[in-house]
Amino acid sequence: MLVAPSILSADFGNLAQEVKAICDAGCDLVHVDVMDGHFVPNLTIGPVVVQSVARAATKGLDVHLMVENNTFFVNLFAPLNPEYISFHIEEEKHPHRLIQHIRSLGIKPALVLNPHTPPEAVEFLLSEVDMVLLMSVNPGFGGQSFIPSVLAKARRLRALCDIYNPKCLIEVDGGVNAKNVHDLKAAGVDIVVAGNYVFKHASYQEAIESLHI
Ligand code: DX5
Ligand code: ZN
Repeated sequence: MLVAPSILSADFGNLAQEVKAICDAGCDLVHVDVMDGHFVPNLTIGPVVVQSVARAATKGLDVHLMVENNTFFVNLFAPLNPEYISFHIEEEKHPHRLIQHIRSLGIKPALVLNPHTPPEAVEFLLSEVDMVLLMSVNPGFGGQSFIPSVLAKARRLRALCDIYNPKCLIEVDGGVNAKNVHDLKAAGVDIVVAGNYVFKHASYQEAIESLHI
């Protein structure tokens, strides 16, 4: 299991040190939650702050857009060379076109599904993306409880990926901890995002190791 700590739960007064600390503690990606106050009822960070994150990080950035006007935000963050940019399928009229655009910028495209969205919604896009992110909370805030129906969804998505794109990674985001990570692994998940669990732990290294199963 790969581990992508969400900096949403980091101490933003010491953001560069926090990013260095999770990278030194062995994380695989740095998960960056971009919220616009429209698609979700919260507002986070823009390219000025993410530039500082990119400078401090020794691992790739996993930019999770929770915004309206996806193309505008893709173009805003692309110059920072993130490894992944993911956008919500619920908020995009032309996802196939946007996937092609992200790839043309040299960035791995990924799709995000809210808790209610069935995996079949992205069936005919799977061959085009590197990753699908399944939300296991309603997007907007860290520290929420894990929604267990994501396990059945991950299994169904894994079966679809086996047909259309076996290399496609499955990521799960929200309420992940050292207990539910085992069920996620069994359901075919490749990457977990963890905010509160990592940043509220006394040792980032211990927290990340406990998810590296
Ligand atoms: C929620 C974000 C998550 C969140 C995860 O909208 O996408 O990345 O920060 O935080 P935890 O692990 O605390 O649920
Ligand atoms: Zn996220």
